Formats: sequence, C-alpha cells, structure tokens
Amino acid sequence: DRLAIGLDIGGTKIAAGVADAGGRVVERVPAVPCPSDQAAILKAVSVLVEELHARNPGTVAVGVGAAGLVHWPEGRIRTAPNTAYRDLPLRRLLQEATGLPALVDNDANAACWAEYRKGNSASYMAFITVGTGVGGGLVLADRLFRGRTGIAMEFGHTIVDPHGAERCGCGVVGCLEPLASGRALGRYGGAAAAAEPGGTLATLAGGPGRVTGETVSAAARAGDPAARAQLERLGHWLGIGIATLVNLFDVELVVVGGGVAEAGELLLAPTRASFARYVTAAAHRELPAIEPARLGPEAGWIGAALLALDQDEPAPGRE
Ligand code: BGC
Ligand code: NA
Ligand code: ZN
Repeated sequence: DRLAIGLDIGGTKIAAGVADAGGRVVERVPAVPCPSDQAAILKAVSVLVEELHARNPGTVAVGVGAAGLVHWPEGRIRTAPNTAYRDLPLRRLLQEATGLPALVDNDANAACWAEYRKGNSASYMAFITVGTGVGGGLVLADRLFRGRTGIAMEFGHTIVDPHGAERCGCGVVGCLEPLASGRALGRYGGAAAAAEPGGTLATLAGGPGRVTGETVSAAARAGDPAARAQLERLGHWLGIGIATLVNLFDVELVVVGGGVAEAGELLLAPTRASFARYVTAAAHRELPAIEPARLGPEAGWIGAALLALDQDEPAPGRE
C-alpha cells in the first residue's frame, strides 16, 4: 500500500506519523516541542522524516502542515505569527533531502482535509483550530479552498475588535486570535485567578502566575465557575468570527478542533450561542452545525499525509 509521512509543525509542538491512502495510522511518534529557531526546526523535521522513512520503506511521499502563511503550490512558508520560520522553501528542502515528492500546506488546511476525508465531514464545511494560534480551513463543493496563493482562510486574523487592547502576533490590533486562542484563555484565566487567589483556578495552577489555557480547561471540567466563564469569553469571540465566516461562505458544517476544543461543550455551547446571536438572518436560514473535530490532535499530520497521497490521484471524496 502507498504510505506517506505526515508532519504537523504547530505553534508549540511538532507531531508526526505515517498513514496510508485511506488515512489509517500506520505509525505515530510522540510529539516533540517545536524549537524556537528555524535551523533547529529544520533539524527536528529532518530527523523525524529520516527515522520514519527508514522504518517505513513503503513511503512514497511526505506531507507537512505548517502553522503560518504557506505559498501554494510552492510550499514556501512566508511568515508565521507564532513560529520562527521566515521565507522558508520547506517543500524544496524536503524533496532534496528525501528524494520523495513533498507537499507543504497550512496546518489548519491539512487538519481540515483530514476531517473532511475521515472525520466530521460535509461538502461545504469550515474547520477552525483553536490552540496556540487560531487557524482555519475551508472545503467548498468538496474541494479544499486555498485562494490564489495558498493563504486564504487565515481565520485567526479576522478583524473582530479593532479598538481593542490586544496586538496580535501578526502585528495588527483587532484580530480574533489574541482574543480566542489557547494563550488568550491562559491570559484571561491568569487575570481571574489574580482576582481570586484562593480560588480553584489559582489553586489548581499552583498560583495565579502559573495559569495556562490547559489549567483553565481542567478547572472548568472540575466545575469551577470562574474557569467556565473564561471559556465562555473565548466562545463569545469565536462565535463572532464564525458568524462572519458563515455569512461569507454559507457552509453547512463548522468543525472545531485544536487543543482548546478538547474542552468540548464548555467551549462549544457558548460559541453556538454567540454565533446564533451574530449571524445574519438567523431566523431565516438553517444554522450550520458547530461540532467538535473527530480526529483530535492528530488531524494535522494525518491530513498532511493524505494531501501528499491525494495530490496525484483523482479527487478521493469523503467516507
Ligand atoms: C497562523 C495560521 C495557523 C494558525 C493555527 C495562526 O496564527 O496565522 O497560519 O493556521 O495560527 O496554527
Ligand atoms: Na488556513
Ligand atoms: Zn493577526
């Protein structure tokens, strides 16, 4: 069977594995932290690819999903708000290093493709990832929509609050990302814990200064109202972003993935409520379903492997 190596280079971690053309996982390796300079990222990527290639001689392609603005089809990473790479011709470098055809796409596009092929799927669907950054992917009429040069669907940089106080990693004030990312959740939680230093959130985190997005989600799951309120804040902003997305593209399904989406209904319920409040003509349309991703944190690398295998095949369709 044809196999592909898939990699997901995110804001904080690199995940990788080997999948077949049906998206079945043949091998997965534990995620490694993403280094903070470009040379070290390249080194980590080539070590992972070499190891996986050596153990899986049936590999015929390499696919990468990378957080950031990736030129399609060149596979050149132009820039990324939360990762060190700048103007990096990753696709060419991988092809030279491995002798295999390589594909490099945006991380959220890759995860969207995995959900479309193997997970929560529809012919017109959007995928939102909420993690270190906020990203998106879009399938229209069963095809991944990339825009003219690959950088469409930068959902995290939708402008929702231009008079706000937070500057995005991209340099602009007003983007959704600094209001709705895992980092934003940690920031909201830190402020809430500082206001209530003896509360569950501060205690669970080991001090108000140590609150992260993960500790907020853990406290929310344990029933802490202060932590739940921070996920509601995130959901408020996500719903606003999704309303704009649905106004523009009329999708039937919005899938929410990424680390913060592991909070499940604690995030999705307030997101749906905010969405229904802000989408236009809410009483005169079918509201799209807003549902959790099915593939979880592996969607990125599996999608990258699938895209690499799909690129020389006729349109595969979903399961
Ligand atoms: C980047 C996107 C990426 C997203 C999720 C954003 O900051 O601009 O390219 O898809 O984070 O990693
Ligand atoms: Na994208
Ligand atoms: Zn931005």
